[in-house]
Amino acid sequence: MYPLRRNRRLRTNEAIRSLVRETIITPNDFLIPLFVVEGKDIKDEIPSMPNYFRYSLDLLENEVKVLWKLGLKSVLLFVKVTDSLKDNKGTEALNPDGLMQRAVRTVKNACPDMLVMTDVALDPYSAYGHDGIIENGQIINDETAEVLAEMSISHVQAGADFVAPSDMMDGRILTIREALEDEGFNNTGIMSYSAKYASAFYGPFRDALDSAPVDLVDIPKDKKTYQMDYANRFEAVRETEMDIDEGADIVMVKPGISYLDIVREIKNDVDVPVAVYQVSGEYAMIKAAAEKGWLDHDQIMMETTMAFKRAGADIIASYFAKDVVKLLS
Ligand code: PBG
Repeated sequence: MYPLRRNRRLRTNEAIRSLVRETIITPNDFLIPLFVVEGKDIKDEIPSMPNYFRYSLDLLENEVKVLWKLGLKSVLLFVKVTDSLKDNKGTEALNPDGLMQRAVRTVKNACPDMLVMTDVALDPYSAYGHDGIIENGQIINDETAEVLAEMSISHVQAGADFVAPSDMMDGRILTIREALEDEGFNNTGIMSYSAKYASAFYGPFRDALDSAPVDLVDIPKDKKTYQMDYANRFEAVRETEMDIDEGADIVMVKPGISYLDIVREIKNDVDVPVAVYQVSGEYAMIKAAAEKGWLDHDQIMMETTMAFKRAGADIIASYFAKDVVKLLS
């Protein structure tokens, strides 16, 4: 009595395994986050993100050329803003010669064909580390969305191809889209962080940008009044559909590895590209376990990357992008 089907036949060796493999990773899948700081000749390792750096503009230029040679064609820019420039309304975010605006120009000069996306949110500019303006003990929504729209215009004037609002204010995609159309930027894309959860996985990122919420008497130290409750699934679909209706070209789920169910849910529901963000805390966990010798760094890196793609992500924002691509080649 023999089984007619022996599934192990298709796993006999690498040749047959690769022949029947359902999911493939290529450099085209990645969006690489980059952290930028003021100064010269700075390549500053982020303590909670081993082997990940903040670059000054001169070194950013070299780095994007390296990325381009590796086949990485899209970057997502974040800036670490000098403390003295932070306030409640993110005034510095609108400075046409601010760090973000200069970073966009630097990347475009170094690599004209590199796709440049910018993070649009107030937190790195906020004296309080929040993604919105604070008034009377509230993070105020609509006024914040207006500033985000102005910020978006400023990034696009500097040369950004896409803006990536990561703030989770209601209606901000529409506000930004209308502003872009009004200014004649009808080809600018919006990648919306549409299902962004209030997550403890963002810790190392907030170290990198020194952007963690501060102690305030009347505002909680977390972002739970705007980022999503991680207990919720259907809400992620609603949020995402609304962002698409408001004009988002790409939608995103964030964090990544603990939210693969959401990635799949959304992929099955929408017809725009779906991105996922393997966030700083996920990176830190893998690095820490690998440093201890408890996990194999490269294998875990590839397995998690593959999991995103298999779950339905069309785009993967990842601090591992460079290492993955080097390993692929
Ligand atoms: C800013 C922003 C955050 C991340 C991306 N954009 C932090 C936050 O919302 O507190 C997190 C990225 C990461 O952890 O890698 N709004």
